[in-house]
Amino acid sequence: MPVTAIVGAQWGDEGKGKITDLLAEQADIVIRFGGGGNAGHTVINHLGEFALHIIPSGIFNPRAVSLVGTGAVVDLDGLGEEMDGLVREGVAVDNLRISSRAQLVMPYHLLLDRLTDEARGELTLGTTRKGIGPAYADKAERIGVRAGDLLHGAALRNALSVALPRHNAQLERFGEPPMSGKELEDRTLIWSERFGEMIVDQAVLVGDALDNGREILLEGQLGTMRDLDWGTYPYVTSSTTIAGGGGVGGGVPPRCIERVVGVVKAYTSAVGTGPVPAELTGTEGDALRRRGNEFGTTTGRPRRVGWFDAVATRYAHRLNRFTDLAITKLDVLDGLGHVKLITAYAINGTEVTTIPDTADMEQAIPIYEEMPGWQDDTSRVTSWSDLPANARRYVQRIEALAGAPVTIVSVGPARQQTIHR
Ligand code: IMP
Repeated sequence: MPVTAIVGAQWGDEGKGKITDLLAEQADIVIRFGGGGNAGHTVINHLGEFALHIIPSGIFNPRAVSLVGTGAVVDLDGLGEEMDGLVREGVAVDNLRISSRAQLVMPYHLLLDRLTDEARGELTLGTTRKGIGPAYADKAERIGVRAGDLLHGAALRNALSVALPRHNAQLERFGEPPMSGKELEDRTLIWSERFGEMIVDQAVLVGDALDNGREILLEGQLGTMRDLDWGTYPYVTSSTTIAGGGGVGGGVPPRCIERVVGVVKAYTSAVGTGPVPAELTGTEGDALRRRGNEFGTTTGRPRRVGWFDAVATRYAHRLNRFTDLAITKLDVLDGLGHVKLITAYAINGTEVTTIPDTADMEQAIPIYEEMPGWQDDTSRVTSWSDLPANARRYVQRIEALAGAPVTIVSVGPARQQTIHR
């Protein structure tokens, strides 16, 4: 199976890091095809416990190349810190590469992310403050700085000479001091020295790999509900999170993507603002949040939690045509008297089974189906037939509602806590 895409089928934080780490054992190249340091991919394996933000979760396979792809935006200071952290833990980062066409998150993007989101007042997006929106805006505006510019002094100076005056004018409007061009150039010189040799031509790397039948893994960031085009706009990120983004940002022709794995958590979680119909407030939500330890990996924010939303996953399946679903954190639901699933929404008195436009989504009231829970501890179960019957029924119900087969069930963070079906 040469090319597999792994994407989130909910609001992000589904556990893509663990699934990517697992599947990366067989991969030759793992490509983060979109997003930036806003990700919080938790990976627990024989080497330890790691929170990855921009580095692909394939980094633990010493035989694979891990690539920050063209569709990503990369904060090189953040990347450097992440690399240092891995090296301290004994993880080699020699096979890490950066696409020459990937956009750089510049210091002014980090500042502007906070200032512009704060300026939205009550309509805040609750971004991760990692500069994602402003960096993608510059890319579309064609005033971005690309990793490859670090290898070409003149290109870099040209890019900065266009971008910086615009951003300084904006910073001034926010009452902030302007940034110094000289200081930025000095920073880019440091980056060139540290990261220059990691910068590659992704078109050649991926093209050669496909010619030679190599295994490529496309690692998505966030989930379908936060996709720039298909999510609950404007409460979305600024990149393509669905598998189609793997074609564009991953540089893999769409017809080569043979397997699309949608990752879903056994319940719903989300950080940031915007409609999440499943959200449980009060003690029920607090209890689920505690059980699942649902606090953001990147921001530490308590996540919004609720029962599994099959409307969202079915919608994600429409857009991604999953060949496989991977369910994570099933063990979090162990010991409950009952479990619930959202099968539809009631919107102004009408029953709806797909994700509507955001204004309608804000009115959505979940319609639940209740199923009996299971009392046994699933975290040590390694085969499908050993799962409690009610847990199997729950997974099968998700499968039926979503319309895609569940082939991986994860019952804990460690690699071995995985059931392949
Ligand atoms: P941004 O990607 O930082 O611009 O944030 C846009 C939206 O996506 C906000 O609602 C964030 O909370 C959410 N978001 C961004 N990255 C992640 C993530 O890794 N997990 C969950 N939510 C995220």
